[in-house]
Formats: sequence, structure tokens, C-alpha cells
Amino acid sequence: MAGGPSTPELAAAVCRAGGLGFLAAGYKRADAVGNEIRALREATVAPFGVNVFVPTPEPADPDGLSDYLQQIAPEAARQGAELGEPRFDDDDWEAKLALVCAERPAVVSFTFGCPARDVVDRLHRAEIAAWVTITNVEEAHAAHAAGADALVVQGTEAGGHRGGWLADDSDEGGVGLLVLLRTVSRATSLPLIATGGIMDGAALAAVLCAGASAAQVGTALMLSPEAATAEAQRALLAEQRPTRVTRAFSGRPARGIVNRFMTEHSAGAPLAYPEIHHVTSPLRAAARRRGDADAFNLWAGQAHELVQARPAGEIVRQIAEEASAVLGRVSAIRLR
Ligand SMILES: Cc1cc2nc3c(=O)[nH]c(=O)nc-3n(C[C@H](O)[C@H](O)[C@H](O)COP(=O)(O)O)c2cc1C
Repeated sequence: MAGGPSTPELAAAVCRAGGLGFLAAGYKRADAVGNEIRALREATVAPFGVNVFVPTPEPADPDGLSDYLQQIAPEAARQGAELGEPRFDDDDWEAKLALVCAERPAVVSFTFGCPARDVVDRLHRAEIAAWVTITNVEEAHAAHAAGADALVVQGTEAGGHRGGWLADDSDEGGVGLLVLLRTVSRATSLPLIATGGIMDGAALAAVLCAGASAAQVGTALMLSPEAATAEAQRALLAEQRPTRVTRAFSGRPARGIVNRFMTEHSAGAPLAYPEIHHVTSPLRAAARRRGDADAFNLWAGQAHELVQARPAGEIVRQIAEEASAVLGRVSAIRLR
């Protein structure tokens, strides 16, 4: 969970509870990720993963950006901030690949794209498993062909950015997790890690029944004390509030709790990541500091109201124990 919630403490707590904790490498420089890997290794000897953003292939058309920049300029003024530069960058891609190959976490998972075959080969030579996030069957085939060891199957329920790269880029739509697990199961024999809307053991049991080998959770951990979730967002996560997918904050579709910024700017927002991410970054940071939850991204999955404010390790253990109990009950059911 790049951009705030992810911390070495959160990953360590998940690992200690028997989960596979992940560090978010996105938005950070490679040296900062290196420091987090070292902090996590000091806290636990358990295996862990690192999540890396695959760079956008090409910069966005600058003409398509200027109208949106004008539209949101008053938002920056309102927060006492400047708009950032519409920069294109690769999120320190090569340096992060070099870092993970040297540090050798158990898993590197990718989002926003599919690493090329030679990148996957490099990871394999370092004995690192490569997982790729997919949101449709076409992406599943591409990730399989690139040599991925497992697929993170992200349903449209998921909080945060959509991890796919071949999906329709509209703000709405997207395939639900159950349908995706079944269609992807038929398309590939790779192990599947289900993600999107999994907040409790019943949901974990459901995705295991539907063909997943494991589940990945995001929102479920956001109220834990180990997560660095913004205070103004914590106050809203457990409430019954609608979510939607928007490009307004980053120029890439992502799901969050509906707020004023989303309502006012989603329609005009271009597909332009990372340019829009850099443009809105200072105003979002100012809004977070000021506690103005109407002006920064409140990433959360559709089931966010089920979130619990408990230590991350307790949440992980509870999900696993509940899932075992549910699976026991379900296995006793006789269908005729
Ligand atoms: C705040 C937040 C940040 C996220 N950041 C990342 C990220 O950096 N990399 C990634 O692969 N997925 C990221 N995701 C998506 C999660 O990996 C996962 O797919 C999603 O949380 C699943 O849905 P859920 O939130 O309903 O559990 C993020 C999700 C949230 C809520």
C-alpha cells in the first residue's frame, strides 16, 4: 500500500502472524526502499515481498493535460499549496530492480504492468518469485507468457489503483473477483492470489473455494496501529460510505471513498499517470496535513466498512481462523 499506509512495522506484524508481509516500493526512491528492507529484516527473519510499479510506457499528451491543470488550480490555492510539475518518470525502475535482485526478498510483485521476460529471468536467477497483478484474462495470458510464478487477481472491488494495463481505462466497470477467479482459472494453471474486498474469514474461504491459493488484503489493515494511514482517512474508513473509481487524483483509475474532489473532478480527469499524480501530490499532502478529507485520495475497497481497528497480527490471525471455521461448516453441507 504505497503512498502512506505501508510501513516496515505493518509488514513485520503480518509476517509474525504467519502472513506474507509486503513492503510498498511505489513512489519511493530505491535507497528509501532499501532502508525499509533493512528495517523489516531487523524486525523479523520471516519471508516477505516487495511490490514494484511497472513504468507507464510513454508520457501523456501534454495538450490533454492543460485543461485539467487549469481546472484543479483553485484546489491547490485552497490548500495553500502549489500544483506540482506534470513530470513523467519511471519510479526509479532500474534502481529498484537492482535493489531487489541484491536484497532477494522471497517475492517481488508487480502492478501497473507486466515485466518483460528478461526482468522475470533476472529475478529467477536471484531465486525471487515474480508475481504479476492482473485484472482480466488477457493480462493473465500475458503475465503467464512473461514467466510469472503467480498472478495477483485483482477484482474491481479492490481499494487503490487498478493493477492492470490492458483494461478499459474508463472509470467505471471492471470485473468482479468471483468472475475473474473462475475465468482466469480456466485460462492458466498458475497459482492465483485473490484480492479485492477481502475483509474477513468468510471472504477468504470464498476465494479459496473459487480457485485462489491465497488472498491479498489491503483495506483490512488500514486501521491497524502499524499502518501509517492518514488520520482524516481513519475517521471515515469504518463508516458506510460509497466508493468509486476515479482518475482525478493520479491520472490512473483507482478506487476510494467518494469525496468532494472526486465528485467535482472525475469527469475532466485525463488518463495521464504519473503526470497527474505529481501535479496533485503537493495539494493532497497539504490536505492530509490540514485534515481536509474532501481534498485528498481516500483509497479503500468496496467492503471498507468492515474494517477493524486492531493490531495487524490479530486481524491476520482472525481472518485465517474464521476461514478455517467457515470451510469446516461448508464442507459439512450436502447438496442434492
Ligand atoms: C491505500 C491503498 C494503497 C495501495 N497501494 C498499492 C500498491 O502500492 N501496490 C499494489 O500492487 N497494490 C496497491 N493497492 C491495492 C492492493 O494491493 C489490493 O489489491 C487491494 O487493497 C485489495 O482490495 P481491498 O483494499 O478491498 O483489500 C493499494 C490499496 C490501498 C487500499
